Amino acid sequence: TVSEGKIRIGFSQAMTNDDWRRSMNNAMQLQASLNPDIELTIKDADYDVQRQIEQLEELISEKPDIIIVSPIQSKPITPVVQKAMDQGIPILVVDRKTQNQKYTAYLGADNIEVGRTAAKEIISSNTKDSIRIIEIKGLSGSSPAEERSIGFNQMIDQYGSARVVATIEGDWEKESIQKPLRSLYSGTVNADYIFAHNDRMAVGAWEVLRDMGLEDEVEIIGVDGLSGPNGGIQAVKDGILKATVLYPTGGNEAIKLALRILNKESVPKNNILSTTVINDVNADIMKNQYDRINEQQHNIEQQITAIKDLEDRYYAQNNLLKIVMAL
Ligand code: FRU
Repeated sequence: TVSEGKIRIGFSQAMTNDDWRRSMNNAMQLQASLNPDIELTIKDADYDVQRQIEQLEELISEKPDIIIVSPIQSKPITPVVQKAMDQGIPILVVDRKTQNQKYTAYLGADNIEVGRTAAKEIISSNTKDSIRIIEIKGLSGSSPAEERSIGFNQMIDQYGSARVVATIEGDWEKESIQKPLRSLYSGTVNADYIFAHNDRMAVGAWEVLRDMGLEDEVEIIGVDGLSGPNGGIQAVKDGILKATVLYPTGGNEAIKLALRILNKESVPKNNILSTTVINDVNADIMKNQYDRINEQQHNIEQQITAIKDLEDRYYAQNNLLKIVMAL
């Protein structure tokens, strides 16, 4: 087992500049802090592919017990992931995949399913004879963008009266899509629905429509469904988004899975987190559930701090006692 000594986990995070990734890191840190033997190091690649490769090289040379990685893009990160494997370091790929299966395991939601779920939501809520859709994609070359698009278009193509009239190549951030969307609308394109590959771009699309006075003409669907005031669940409750597809970060599951791998348990190659649609039917329920979970997480964090405090005081007093006894 890995119970003797420290368990060193190195995580290469694509970036830490958005709520989804911050929430993933927090969940990992919280889960890791439940086991005092775990030493979790998070390296933030700040969305720079070259930096992510260098940081992974660094991690490999530090020889941690296991590496976790969320690759910015599939192709450029593939060789260095393979290198970790070749050097005998287990590697767990989360959220975004590399190009081949040369890793120990993958953990994340099924992004083809995410795309299909978004399409089903459009088809089932539609009342018109024909549906025009604008698809706003995530960063090209990152597996969730490719897979969400495949699943979405598969489902839409099966349904005769819906079609994608325009596609915008985004990069997961709203700044990337606002100008192209504005120019689409100043041309001839019109849409009944927008499917954006994440909530940040979906809300960005809504801002553009609102500025043009068109926000009531178009229904917008996003992905992520984070809790909290800036998250997708609130955006659904506020009527900004018609729906969002839950894309769990899997932060705590990643740490648990890493421990199982280190304990030499046999784990599945693909570990799929479940997803679901969040719309006006269940947004309140989802919000309540997350509020409770967040409250409990907060309590756990406070308890952990309190225990650490007690430990510190115990050691301080113990040292004092040793000094006194030695006198
Ligand atoms: C966060 C994010 C999410 C998206 C995921 C895809 O950085 O852009 O919004 O669902 O990455 O990997």
